Amino acid sequence: MIDDVERILYTEDQINNMCDELADKIRKDYSGRELIFVCMLKGSVLFFSDLVRKVGLPCRLEFMEVSSYGSGTVSTGKINIKKDIGCDIAGKDVLIVEDIVDTGNTLFYIKDYLEGRSPASVKICTLFDKPLRRQKPVSADYSGCVVDDQFIVGFGLDYDERYRYLPYVGVLRPEVYSS
Ligand code: IMP
Ligand code: MG
Repeated sequence: MIDDVERILYTEDQINNMCDELADKIRKDYSGRELIFVCMLKGSVLFFSDLVRKVGLPCRLEFMEVSSYGSGTVSTGKINIKKDIGCDIAGKDVLIVEDIVDTGNTLFYIKDYLEGRSPASVKICTLFDKPLRRQKPVSADYSGCVVDDQFIVGFGLDYDERYRYLPYVGVLRPEVYSS
């Protein structure tokens, strides 16, 4: 464990098991359909690459990047699309893959945006969910686990672009935020 991390919340093994369980459900639900996975950059990139391999269905991979956070841990609430998906989703089943749903501002906006392009369906898969912090009515169709109202890093999740590479998820020492 690196010095900046105070406590590990989910080990690499636990995360791997969560990904297995989510993939099993998705595989059952989408088998035989034309699925498009949408990776929400950058936070979901590690989760996404594990998930699509574990699901193992023929699918298309697309990427979106939005900015909702300024620097640090506070959401600005304003969503700006920095990178859009690159294909027509009309008539297709779309699964948005997110690292964590927090206030819900990002996915409330993005789900509505994608639904406006006439897909057969748009669903949400998130590894972590913080329902206590919700400001918009967003619920994940597939959710790895619920976390308390605390800021977590690792397995794609960052604090100021740091810690995404960690194979586990943990909470930072308070000193890290003040330095
Ligand atoms: P929302 O729009 O408030 O739901 O925020 C969603 C985005 O905020 C996620 O995709 C993350 O990038 C980021 N985020 C929310 N909570 C955390 C956290 O605890 N650690 C790291 N990033 C977070
Ligand atoms: Mg982030």
